[in-house]
Amino acid sequence: MQKNITVLKGDGIGPEIVDQAIKVLGVIEEKFGHKFEYTEVDIGGCSIDKYGVPITDEGMAKCKAADSVLLGAVGGPKWDSCPPAIRPEKALLAVRSELGLFANLRPTKLFPQLSDSSPLKESIVGNGIDLMIVRELTGGIYFGKRRTEEINGEKVATDEMTYSEHEIERIGRVAFESARKRGKKVASVDKANVLDSSRLWRAVMHKLAEEYPDVEYSDILVDNTAMQLIKNPSQFDVIVTENMFGDILSDEASMLTGSIGMMPSASLSEGTLGMYEPIHGSAPDIAGMDIANPIGTIMSAAMMLRYSFGMAVEADAIEAAVNKALDDGYRTADIYDAAKCGTTKVGCSEMGDIIAKNIA
Ligand code: IPM
Ligand code: MG
Repeated sequence: MQKNITVLKGDGIGPEIVDQAIKVLGVIEEKFGHKFEYTEVDIGGCSIDKYGVPITDEGMAKCKAADSVLLGAVGGPKWDSCPPAIRPEKALLAVRSELGLFANLRPTKLFPQLSDSSPLKESIVGNGIDLMIVRELTGGIYFGKRRTEEINGEKVATDEMTYSEHEIERIGRVAFESARKRGKKVASVDKANVLDSSRLWRAVMHKLAEEYPDVEYSDILVDNTAMQLIKNPSQFDVIVTENMFGDILSDEASMLTGSIGMMPSASLSEGTLGMYEPIHGSAPDIAGMDIANPIGTIMSAAMMLRYSFGMAVEADAIEAAVNKALDDGYRTADIYDAAKCGTTKVGCSEMGDIIAKNIA
């Protein structure tokens, strides 16, 4: 198969981690006889520096025209004082919105080899962690009306959180369908004791749950979810929630896996076009040092093969190669523990080489 991939390396560690994913995809091309064509587009701070905007119209068009998009990370302190309209993050939100990427899947899995890396006790993560966060990605407070105005001599800022029934139903469907392929449980997270948007969310989810009698459904408040994720994470299978709750809970959940550097994501549209990125940020403090963990990005590339290209065997091959690298004791700095024998600390590019070699 031949596929066109638009590559958004972005800022900070973005370029180095994406290079490792492309290295791994190169071995997949050879081994399975595929051809991946890459088109690079600047996004975030690097685009602001070059063009004065976080993504150009041509760049956006190249994302829309691709079979899929692979992203590193955007942002950094250098651009923190940019006006809201041209901040690096603005481009990321624009791509999500313009490509209709409403469903963000964030699989949260603790590799058994890393059970010591999680800050949580063995008694909590020891049973294994394997949950899927399904985050609504193109609605809610991220895309609501916002304004800052002067009222009675002081500034007042407002961000609106809006959800319509169809937006809730389509993300709910993604959650129920993925639960059917996994542990057959959906926990819908909201704040229905306070927010109208959450009350509508809950009503729509309840109606949808009737269509999936084989899936065990529960409602859970977002504050309680934050607690339960630490207290008893293995109770969860699929968690479905709105945009901002999902942003916050997925960073929290990433620590169950040992490091935020391990966690991939897929942002899916109604069709096969998707964007794939690790959930972590651009980590400007370690950029260019070749010490970042590329596994979240490499696993995102595996999700791209699985969800956008229908290449399940190839995706399995990448995941097995990551597993073997961990089995063999290779660790980037974020998951390395000097006290643990049988492990070797490696850099970003070396980790990419090892995983690529495991596939070949
Ligand atoms: C994420 C990130 C983004 C978000 C930022 C960079 C805008 O935190 O993908 O989780 O809030 O969605
Ligand atoms: Mg986030």
